[in-house]
Amino acid sequence: MSGIPDLTALAAEAVALITEAPDLEALEAARVRFLGRRAPLTELLGSIGTLAPDERGRVGRDGNAARRAIEDALDGRRGHLEAQAMGAALEADMADVTLPGNGHALGALHPITQVRLEVEDIFLGMGYAVADGPEVETGFNNFTALNTPDGHPARSESDTFFIEGGTDVLLRTQTSPVQIRTMQAGPPPVYVIAPGTVYRRDDVDATHSPMFHQVEGLAVDEGLSFAHLKGTITYFLQQLLGDREVRVIPHFFPFTEPSVDVSVAWTDGHGRTDWLEVAGAGMVDPNVFANVGYDPERWTGFAFGFGLDRIAMVRHGIADIRLLYEGDLRFLGQFP
Ligand code: DAH
Repeated sequence: MSGIPDLTALAAEAVALITEAPDLEALEAARVRFLGRRAPLTELLGSIGTLAPDERGRVGRDGNAARRAIEDALDGRRGHLEAQAMGAALEADMADVTLPGNGHALGALHPITQVRLEVEDIFLGMGYAVADGPEVETGFNNFTALNTPDGHPARSESDTFFIEGGTDVLLRTQTSPVQIRTMQAGPPPVYVIAPGTVYRRDDVDATHSPMFHQVEGLAVDEGLSFAHLKGTITYFLQQLLGDREVRVIPHFFPFTEPSVDVSVAWTDGHGRTDWLEVAGAGMVDPNVFANVGYDPERWTGFAFGFGLDRIAMVRHGIADIRLLYEGDLRFLGQFP
């Protein structure tokens, strides 16, 4: 029996150590120690051929049994330790779904958008449709068809942003070209509003911006009079701005005759009370009907164009139009 270890004791010692291995590292050390290439058992099993013939069977059988016992113990302990590690990782990673989430501040519509939607609601309630038109327009739609011939001061370079040098394509200076597009698209009667963005080469100050917003309105029917125009505008302004004085005074626009300026009484952000012009309006000029192929002898109409920014300013007592375009959240946050 010289040189042959006690295989039963060896296996028992190994299994005990393996079962107690505190972690995967210790387990690997035990594997190397008992089953590694230099382990006594490995060396013994590798040298069976050198043993006396009558010992080979027993040593081979006992040695292999010891190795299997150790392997089984290693597998069992490894499974246990791995499951434990997985459990700990899951525990550390666990989200408590009952905790309140991180809040996100809700955004809001821009005050001009809010006012536009209110304006649309009021006119939809009066049976008007809402139309849309492009911001890049033709000189014909923006001016000529609206009875504003070449050479009219409003067509000059000083007011209009032209596209690519010529005078045929431009950024619309008003929403009035949607009148032309609407009438060209179909016969009367027409009851339509067209809110949108317009552009002019204006210097920026408290009441001017080179980009601003208008709401165009057009009604075409038989027997429309100035009384319909004034009633519509007054009803609209009082719906939107409350019971407030509305002033209508004569003015000139190329595409209406007669034409008026519409103002409302307002108190600006500095406490001063005054009239603020919010719209131009008038009875559609017969030339405009002729330009779109409507019979001026049969059809009558009125049109108006409101400054949406102006209305937002009156509605909220904003003294400076620049506040509407600077994107300062301290300002915008006041219109939830
Ligand atoms: N388009 C005019 C402007 O930008 C406003 C206007 C005046 C529109 C009279 C109209 C109107 O429809 O009838 O100043």
